[in-house]
Amino acid sequence: MKKSSKLSNGQEKENSSYKKLKNTEFEISNNTKRGNFFNIFDYIFIIAFLLILLSNIFSFGAISWQLSSFGRVFLIKILPYYDWRPLKNEQCLIKRPFSDTERTRSNLNCDLCEDTFEIDAHKSLEEDILEERYINIDVPVILTTGVEKWPKDSKFMIDIQNDSSFVKSYPCGLSTNINKGVADVGTILSKQIYFDHFFIHFQNCELEAMRTLRKYIYRPDFLPSAYSPTLYNWLIWNENYNTTNYKHVDLVEKVAIVGQLFGTTSFRLKPRKNCANVCTDLTFNLHGGEILIFTSLWDLEYRPNDIGENMAVIMEY
Ligand SMILES: *[C@@H]1O[C@H](CO)[C@@H](O)[C@H](O)[C@H]1NC(C)=O
Ligand SMILES: *[C@@H]1O[C@H](CO)[C@@H](O)[C@H](O)[C@H]1NC(C)=O
Repeated sequence: MKKSSKLSNGQEKENSSYKKLKNTEFEISNNTKRGNFFNIFDYIFIIAFLLILLSNIFSFGAISWQLSSFGRVFLIKILPYYDWRPLKNEQCLIKRPFSDTERTRSNLNCDLCEDTFEIDAHKSLEEDILEERYINIDVPVILTTGVEKWPKDSKFMIDIQNDSSFVKSYPCGLSTNINKGVADVGTILSKQIYFDHFFIHFQNCELEAMRTLRKYIYRPDFLPSAYSPTLYNWLIWNENYNTTNYKHVDLVEKVAIVGQLFGTTSFRLKPRKNCANVCTDLTFNLHGGEILIFTSLWDLEYRPNDIGENMAVIMEY
């Protein structure tokens, strides 16, 4: 009994102090209410200021490109776990009610490729024909002229290595048999002299490095002006490399151009996703001075030529 009365006493004490606390709390919140009212505007102001600052930073070319390239590397990294590429061509990410079913949404339109068994080759094409007959309906096409000014041997690789922004840049999507682990472009290319059979392909992930390569690999004239400038470029270089394996190149943009500078490379276009079972793989060789234009309905693979030195570039638009 004694214990319980003590307890209830204590409880009373607690209760009263709780009440006091509550009262002061009430007073405090009463006092600060007006303050809060103004604080909200302060916050809005600060947030607006930060947003304006950020948008300025993003619109500053180099930085925005750098950020988008980081984002891109991240997106490529998660590709094995989640194939987001079909979303890229969607108008909106949130499904509209009563619109297309899930099935048609996530699937590619294989009507566009089911009767494509080989790739047309032309000496030149009018811009509208190139767009209407090929690019707009995801049909790949080869052009056999138009890039005569591109380098015809690998001597320009020596000059390009004088450019510090190029050699100090870190490549994305690197595959090679002459280097293990992470290294900058200069380090990797400098090892090439120790090998008489090698292959290497990588993507330029830094703006300056990409600009440097663009000094040697001009934008082809026949390309409609809507596809300029290049977003990302890849270099494919190999010599006497004997393999039967095709090497996958992770392209993500809507339109890509593959140009063979010199030598020969075997390429394979594989229809993506659901079209893999409906449409056929297209296998073909590109020789020096030839160009392939294709779209994101297809995945690109290549096989190095086992004889001689070969080089190709890929530009994504
Ligand atoms: C690059 O450097 C080499 C010497 O290391 C020089 O002979 C060559 O002319 C340079 N090329 C350019 C384009 O500066
Ligand atoms: C490449 O390897 C195959 C056997 O796998 C061989 O028949 C062919 O001659 C080799 N090519 C060269 C250039 O050594």
